[in-house]
Amino acid sequence: MEGGWPLMRGFLLCLTVSLLLQGGGDTFTINRSGFDQDGVDPAAFQAVFDRKAFRPVINYSIPTEVNISFTLSAILEVDAQLQLLTSFLWIDMMWDNPFINWKPEECVGISKLTLSAENLWLPDIFIVESMDVDQTSPGLTAYVSSGGRIYYSKPMRVTSICNLDIFYFPFDQQNCTFTFSSFLCTEDSMLLGMEKEVWEITDMSRNVIQTQGEWELLGINKVTPKMSVGSKVYDQIMFYVAIRRRPTLYVINLLVPSGFLVVIDALSFYLPAESENRAPFKMTLLLGYDVFLLMMSDLLPSSGTPLISVYFALCLSLMVVSLLETVFITYLLHLATTEPPPMPQWLHSLLLHYTSPRKCCPTAPQKENKGLGLTPTHLPASHSGVVT
Ligand SMILES: *[C@@H]1O[C@H](CO)[C@@H](O)[C@H](O)[C@H]1NC(C)=O
Ligand SMILES: *[C@@H]1O[C@H](CO)[C@@H](O)[C@H](O)[C@H]1NC(C)=O
Ligand SMILES: *[C@@H]1O[C@H](CO)[C@@H](O)[C@H](O)[C@H]1NC(C)=O
Ligand SMILES: *[C@@H]1O[C@H](CO)[C@@H](O)[C@H](O)[C@H]1NC(C)=O
Repeated sequence: MEGGWPLMRGFLLCLTVSLLLQGGGDTFTINRSGFDQDGVDPAAFQAVFDRKAFRPVINYSIPTEVNISFTLSAILEVDAQLQLLTSFLWIDMMWDNPFINWKPEECVGISKLTLSAENLWLPDIFIVESMDVDQTSPGLTAYVSSGGRIYYSKPMRVTSICNLDIFYFPFDQQNCTFTFSSFLCTEDSMLLGMEKEVWEITDMSRNVIQTQGEWELLGINKVTPKMSVGSKVYDQIMFYVAIRRRPTLYVINLLVPSGFLVVIDALSFYLPAESENRAPFKMTLLLGYDVFLLMMSDLLPSSGTPLISVYFALCLSLMVVSLLETVFITYLLHLATTEPPPMPQWLHSLLLHYTSPRKCCPTAPQKENKGLGLTPTHLPASHSGVVT
């Protein structure tokens, strides 16, 4: 349609911009029927442009309905220390301007125009969680349809606060919120709505997100609670964006090498204890593990204690314990080979005390003999009697 502008010269474009004034109910109809040289005459829209400071409604007790939607086009950064999510959004807004109105069939079939957005009233929608000023470039355009519906879309880099939980790092899943609300307009002057369903936003975002970076979009949900501050009630729409970290990088760089080192450390018990190099080997492994932890520490989140840090600490302490055990075994072997140690006095007496037969089963055989009525002297006698 944009390319069609030169062709349109010479056609009769009858653009009617109705300007309805509140109060008296007067209707100014500005109709331009002489566009044969210059395309759209700015004068036809001048009345609309002049009123851009005011909310475009005929009756001020009717709130303006603004439909919003967005596309998540990139997840740039997730900062666990500052609890910030940096993302890139394309925000779409739609609302009606009742002062703009023309009939396409009278105007060579033109049903929509682009206008510079600076000339129009724009709703002051912002994202509550955003921690950054809106750096949208000013020279954006908006589509205006013949019925007065305005489609405005802007790209926005959003640094929003998000409650990040890194306990399950790198298998974590985050749930961040984007709350769209008007900065100033309360419920009785602006209402927010949605034209698209949430699944459409999710699908669109999934198709658009090009960066195969660290994060993967899981889904988007929405709720529409009202926010009341004092006696004012603001309409708002909250979107929950669930994202999941792709763990491959961390599994390959953190979990696998660490696991290997621990396995090697455990298997090094197969080294014969008499050969002198088991302890140096373990010491080298421990040193290697320390260097590994130092080098990989910038891959770990810099705040909080994720489970993986506990795992690393556990691995390190296992390796230290195994080294200590090796030292102890080497010491025992050393003692055993150089001089057979004398048994300590306490061990000696302890062993003698508990293993002496008198204490163990004291009088049981004698009692049994008495119960049977057999005396030691009797037994050999009867025995000899049977034999003889
Ligand atoms: C154009 O405006 C004049 C008054 O300014 C009005 O009489 C006429 O009906 C209008 N034409 C159209 C097509 O609206
Ligand atoms: C504006 O709208 C309200 C509520 O719909 C209605 O009561 C009032 O009469 C309207 N005012 C005018 C001037 O149309
Ligand atoms: C907003 O969306 C609803 C459908 O959800 C639609 O009925 C309404 O006309 C839309 N309003 C604007 C201003 O786009
Ligand atoms: C995100 O958190 C909100 C409340 O904090 C919850 O209602 C919603 O279900 C959560 N979404 C996901 C995908 O976990």
